[in-house]
Amino acid sequence: MSKTYYITTAIDYTNAPPHIGHAYEKVLADALARYGRLFGKKVFLLTGVDQHGQKVQQSAEKQGLTPEAFVGGVTQKFLDLWKRLDVAYDGWAATVEPAHKRVVQSMLQQLFDAGQIYKKATSGMYSVRQEQFLSDRDRNEAGEFGPEWGEVEEREEENYYFRLSDHVEWLRDFLTANPDSVFPESRLSMLKNAVADSIGQQQDLCISRPKSRLTWGIELPFDKEFVTYVWFDALTNYISFAGFRAKEVGNEGLPDFDSLWPCDAHIIGKDILVPAHGIYWLIMLHAIGLPDSQIPKILVHGWWNVRGEKMSKSLGNVVNPNDIADVVGVDALRYYLLSDIATGADSDMSEERVIMRYHNDMANVLGNLLNRTLNMAKKYLGGEIQATDYDDELGVELRAAVAALPGITVEALKTYQIHKALAAAWDVLILANTYIEKTAPFKLAKDPANASRVVAILGNLAETLAHVSVMISPVIPGAAKKIQAQLGWDVPAGLTIHDLKWGMLPVGHRLGEGTPLFPKVELKEGA
Ligand code: MSP
Repeated sequence: MSKTYYITTAIDYTNAPPHIGHAYEKVLADALARYGRLFGKKVFLLTGVDQHGQKVQQSAEKQGLTPEAFVGGVTQKFLDLWKRLDVAYDGWAATVEPAHKRVVQSMLQQLFDAGQIYKKATSGMYSVRQEQFLSDRDRNEAGEFGPEWGEVEEREEENYYFRLSDHVEWLRDFLTANPDSVFPESRLSMLKNAVADSIGQQQDLCISRPKSRLTWGIELPFDKEFVTYVWFDALTNYISFAGFRAKEVGNEGLPDFDSLWPCDAHIIGKDILVPAHGIYWLIMLHAIGLPDSQIPKILVHGWWNVRGEKMSKSLGNVVNPNDIADVVGVDALRYYLLSDIATGADSDMSEERVIMRYHNDMANVLGNLLNRTLNMAKKYLGGEIQATDYDDELGVELRAAVAALPGITVEALKTYQIHKALAAAWDVLILANTYIEKTAPFKLAKDPANASRVVAILGNLAETLAHVSVMISPVIPGAAKKIQAQLGWDVPAGLTIHDLKWGMLPVGHRLGEGTPLFPKVELKEGA
């Protein structure tokens, strides 16, 4: 296996429905994986849920559930959504799995034995009600800890720390020597600045919680009174479920790590680059002995906002992907999420724009072209692709545009710019609609002398639709299949762009029935 696209996310601890930002990340990863396969690569997509931690423990308690039952319920919501959104992953990382625990403990023991993890007592302000230490960021405008924290007292606590500061200079040098390690460049700069700031600060990373405070986690292999807190647990999922140290720790049924790793794109949102993925994660990998060539590439996507504002429960502006899919369908939602944003940048989510893009791009451009082509082919050719010698400049122009599409798509995907690949595909579809207007086969068909010209036009149109359906299938896999079914085209399994050639619908091919794929919709009240 030569290529890996790799991703994960954490569950929403408060048990809210997954929101559009989560959906975007998965759909982006899924589309990249599908493009990879279309380009002839082997792809492995890993995604999952990060299920331990204080908030999970607290939310479970509030609901009167065990943490196991609580995470089971939340995880199911994600699984259902990925299924609905056609997110096809190859590996599923659920951090409560024993296989994951074994890898986490093996890494912790290795670092402890090497003197990279040490115990230290620190004191600080502790909220008894919230059972957590507070920092200055938790103070209110008056500089005090507000009533929400209940009784706040000074406490001393021992914990284990990872010697992060030993490695920040390595990270600085690594990022300078490998400018491709973070995409886009603006995020690389942001990370480099954060690393530069941390040099000389001697800040190590607290990686434990005493069991008196937190039990819902993975026990430290060298001290049974503690569990590891977030970093070594959550971040490690990216390698534990890819088969890291599988033989050594006795894990079975996981992929072969050496053929998967390092991943090509470790897809995360901009909020979790610094410090989690850009600093802690890369340093963890380095500290356990991975060479620089094995450090993964991080693809940082932007955020979907609403009218320029962050989506948040308190603002009440969180968009639920299920609500949008209920109105326009899954394919139109995927299309919107990948065409209305440049990968790496932010964008504004607007239900009006979802509907507008649906009507314009899906219904008027794509759906209309398919319908007109199939209806005319049925009427004038008895639904069959026929032989012809006729050709003209307009036909040559359309075929050239179709032939150029795979190259443009590959180029756009080099920098993950799916919106550019889609714009190019829609340009071809628009050209094909214009071709209908310019050639007017519905008029030509009135005179039998034009028969071979009509055959050529409809052949060009059907063939164009076959090619474009393949090129847009990573983004709208469901609709692409339906288009291909209407074309009567049995797409060979494992077809790649290298197999695309003019004449995939040969003379004698029978086209299917045209039924509208994208009916008019209206925004539901309150949606
Ligand atoms: N718990 C961490 C991940 C730990 S990884 C070991 C976390 N979880 S999250 O549920 O809050 O977010 C998951 C992903 O969704 C993140 O990559 C985040 O950037 C992304 N998004 C959350 N809101 C988003 C938008 N509004 N828009 C796009 N993506 C966003 O972070």
